[in-house]
Amino acid sequence: MKRKKFVAGNWKMNLDLEGAKALATELNAHTGEFHCDVALFPSYVFLAEVQHTLKHSKIRLGAQNLSYSENGAYTGEVSASMLASIGMEYVLIGHSERREYLNEERDVLCLKLRLALKYGLKPIYCIGEPASVRNEGLHKEFVRDQMEDCLSDFTTEEISNITIAYEPIWAIGTGVTATTSQAQEMHEYIRQHLGDMYSEEIAQRMRILYGGSCKPDNAKELFLCPDVDGGLIGGASLKAADFLAIIEAAQ
Ligand code: 13P
Repeated sequence: MKRKKFVAGNWKMNLDLEGAKALATELNAHTGEFHCDVALFPSYVFLAEVQHTLKHSKIRLGAQNLSYSENGAYTGEVSASMLASIGMEYVLIGHSERREYLNEERDVLCLKLRLALKYGLKPIYCIGEPASVRNEGLHKEFVRDQMEDCLSDFTTEEISNITIAYEPIWAIGTGVTATTSQAQEMHEYIRQHLGDMYSEEIAQRMRILYGGSCKPDNAKELFLCPDVDGGLIGGASLKAADFLAIIEAAQ
C-alpha cells in the first residue's frame, strides 16, 4: 500500500510571536511545491496567530500537548475540546520530553489518546527507546511495550486516526541520527506489531514517522526506507530553508 509521506515540525518551546508568524509565512509561500502532507506544531500561545497566517493553506496545524482531563478546575491546562473548538487537527502525545520531564506515563497518555480521539483530534503517538535500552539490545521490546500500553483496544476507525512517531531518545537533539538500517528495522517492527495488535490492513495504512536529528542532509535516505513515512522534525523545523529541504526530500 502506498502511504502519502508526512512531514511535521515540532517547534517545541521555541520562537516568539513574530518568529512564529514569520516562519509560518515563509513556509506558506512554498506550499505550491508540496506533494506530501505537512503539519506544524507551534506553542499553544501562537496557535491562533499561526492559524490566521495559514488561513486556506495546505499546511495543517496541531498542538504539542493536551490535558488528560476533559474539563474543569485544572489551572493552566488545555483540553481536547478547547483544541478542537479552535480547529486544531493534530496533537502530539507521548513525546519523550514530556515522558521524561513531566513524568507522563501510561495512564495519563492513555487518557490523552482517548480524549483526543473523542474530540476528533488526530494524535501523533510518540515512542522510542533511550540509549541504555538500545545498548542492552531491548529496543524492540521497549517500543512494543509503549505501543501495547496505549494503543490497545481502539476501534478500527479510532486507530486509523492515529499516526506513530518513532523517536529514539538518543537521537533527539543530539545530532546522532539513526542509520537507515536502524530506522527501517524499527519501523518495520512497529508495523509488524500493529499487524499483530490489529490487522495487516491497519498496519499497512498507518503512517510511521521518524524523529531524531532528521536534517536536510539525511532526510532523503531515511524517507526512502520502505517503512519510514516521513518525519517529526524538531531543530531543523525552526529554519524555513531546512524544513523546506526536508519536505522536498519526502517527495
Ligand atoms: P530534533 O529533530 O531536534 O532531534 O527533535 C526531534 C523531535 O523530538 C521531534 O519531536
